[in-house]
Amino acid sequence: SVLPVILSGGSGTRLWPQSREAYAKQFLALVDEHTMLQGTVMRLEGLAGLQAPLIVCNEAHRFMVAEQLRLVGVDPAAIVLEPVGRNTAPAVTLAALQVQMQGDDPLLLVLPADHVIEDAAAFRCAVQEACHVAEAGMLVTFGIVPTSPETGYGYIKAGALIEGERNVSRVDRFVEKPDRATAEAYVAGGDYFWNSGMFLFRASRFLAEIETYAPDLLAACRAAFAGARRDVDFIRLDLSAFQGCPSDSIDYAVMERTRNAAVLPLAAGWSDVGSWSALWDVGKRDASGNVIKGDVISIDSCNSYVHAERLVALVGVKDLVVIDAQDAVLVASKTQVQDVKRVVEQLKANG
Ligand code: GDD
Ligand code: MG
Repeated sequence: SVLPVILSGGSGTRLWPQSREAYAKQFLALVDEHTMLQGTVMRLEGLAGLQAPLIVCNEAHRFMVAEQLRLVGVDPAAIVLEPVGRNTAPAVTLAALQVQMQGDDPLLLVLPADHVIEDAAAFRCAVQEACHVAEAGMLVTFGIVPTSPETGYGYIKAGALIEGERNVSRVDRFVEKPDRATAEAYVAGGDYFWNSGMFLFRASRFLAEIETYAPDLLAACRAAFAGARRDVDFIRLDLSAFQGCPSDSIDYAVMERTRNAAVLPLAAGWSDVGSWSALWDVGKRDASGNVIKGDVISIDSCNSYVHAERLVALVGVKDLVVIDAQDAVLVASKTQVQDVKRVVEQLKANG
């Protein structure tokens, strides 16, 4: 059976002013009427052997998570609450420990709560196809054909096909967040995939890898669990034990080092919507190429993304991102939206 592990701890500063610390990207309805967290669990419906999801998130978000799931009729197996963020390697380790404690060893389907997948059926097919290889003890990644030398992604070089498989290969190399020149060479060479950040493996396999490559991290997670308090669905970790946990991502801690990784190419309209322009990419464009949310009048304007809480009018502009939020307005060139995070940095510096 497949147990979804939903990672819901990030903040997504590049989507300011919509996404804030208290209201991170995964809790926003950015593409349709459902929030990204809701979309993440809903697109699994129909997967064979599907278990109730396990959510790992920050303590501060517990009611938002519980409420958003309830609204779409999803009853989680548990919600693990992190008192502080320690990145994805501990988050996945906690999930694996939780199922191990229940004497279970399902396949964990690790899913970021803030991605968009246009073709949910193709995604479920890929997961189904990967099950076999994961059951045999591999850590399966889902590879995306790259379209640009993004430095915010992991890069995966596929090796030989795994025996008996048509689409799943061994991973030759996994490189997390390479520098610009390296990313350019990978994309030009044509034999690297982007890592989608979704994984499928047995809980016991992952714990064995963590034990090998990050024993301190595993020990800290065990201690945080040993002192945990449980109330209904919530599992509250021991604060001081988890504070002592090293911060690391699953990509650096395990995927770059393991010899048991596999990759399955995924063509399902995946996007991690890391910026406002990505939302324009995945959005429904009108005849002028505008993607519009809210009350907008557009005159001779094209190829822009507009989110309007009040009435917004565009006249004679193109390639803009205009975000009219409750208490702030962003106007940015669509080609420079990565720098929105600099606005957030400046806001933090100014207090
Ligand atoms: N529970 C929990 N706790 N979740 C977390 C934490 C944490 O401390 N930190 C991050 N997350 C969640 C985020 O909310 C997101 O859903 C997911 O884990 C991945 O974290 P990101 O911080 O978004 O990672 P990234 O985008 O820099 O890189 C990862 O994703 C890329 C694809 O989008 C890597 O896996 C890359 O290799 C990959 O290409
Ligand atoms: Mg991300």
